[in-house]
Amino acid sequence: MTWLNTQSGYGALTKLLHWLVVVLFAFQFTAANVMLRLDAGATQLGLSQATYYNWHKSIGLMALALALLRLLARKRGQLPDWAPTLSERIFVHRTEQVLYLAMFLMPVSGYLYVTAGGFGVTLFGAWDLPNPMGEWQLLATAAKWTHIAGSYALLLAVAGHVGLVLRHQLILKDGLLLRMLPGRHRRD
Ligand code: HEM
Ligand code: HEM
Repeated sequence: MTWLNTQSGYGALTKLLHWLVVVLFAFQFTAANVMLRLDAGATQLGLSQATYYNWHKSIGLMALALALLRLLARKRGQLPDWAPTLSERIFVHRTEQVLYLAMFLMPVSGYLYVTAGGFGVTLFGAWDLPNPMGEWQLLATAAKWTHIAGSYALLLAVAGHVGLVLRHQLILKDGLLLRMLPGRHRRD
């Protein structure tokens, strides 16, 4: 097992970060939907709206750190050869570009929205992050709409990405999914 990608397959670090980001993104969409529907005084599963906001912001910033690590790991290693059965290469390339863009755009726009909006971030309810820019309503509004529009673009890209993987895995039965699972370097 190698940590970085090689010509023959994805490395363990890429796989680990891929699935961690999937879990964190799933959390982000769930928490966002709960916090936006909850009234200020109400609770869901014993947690207040403020707690959901706080966890959404904190986990979002963790996801940014993972995205950075992931990009570095990808640059340090190399991209594995295409799976031979993957004929939709332009589509795959474009969706991966959108996914990488979203991994940065979503946390950065969220951070700018709350910071420029004067709300601030208290990391995991314990540590107040400094506000280097002060209140700046125009930036806050632009960042908010970027965050919202970005979330729909991200959903579309994930749907395309997962749809393609499932088509290969379940219909063409070429084992594409195994390329991103632990323990297998390549199956073709
Ligand atoms: C991986 C990173 C992130 C993802 C995938 C994500 C996703 C989302 C989604 C899906 C929404 C609901 C959008 C809507 O339909 O209204 C949302 C809202 C929100 N997010 Fe994030 N987010 C991320 C990071 C962050 C960060 C780092 C912050 C702040 C530090 C943040 C702050 C907010 C806020 C304040 C809202 C409420 C927006 C409103 O008032 O409508 N997000 N986010
Ligand atoms: C938030 C959701 C997701 C994001 C952001 C994402 C992102 C990516 C990216 C950027 C790659 C290219 C390799 C890399 O540089 O890391 C990739 C590859 C891959 N992903 Fe995802 N992914 C997501 C969800 C999923 C899910 C749910 C599945 C399984 C159904 C999946 C299966 C795969 C597979 C099998 C590959 C390797 C494809 C190949 O052989 O090149 N991904 N993903």
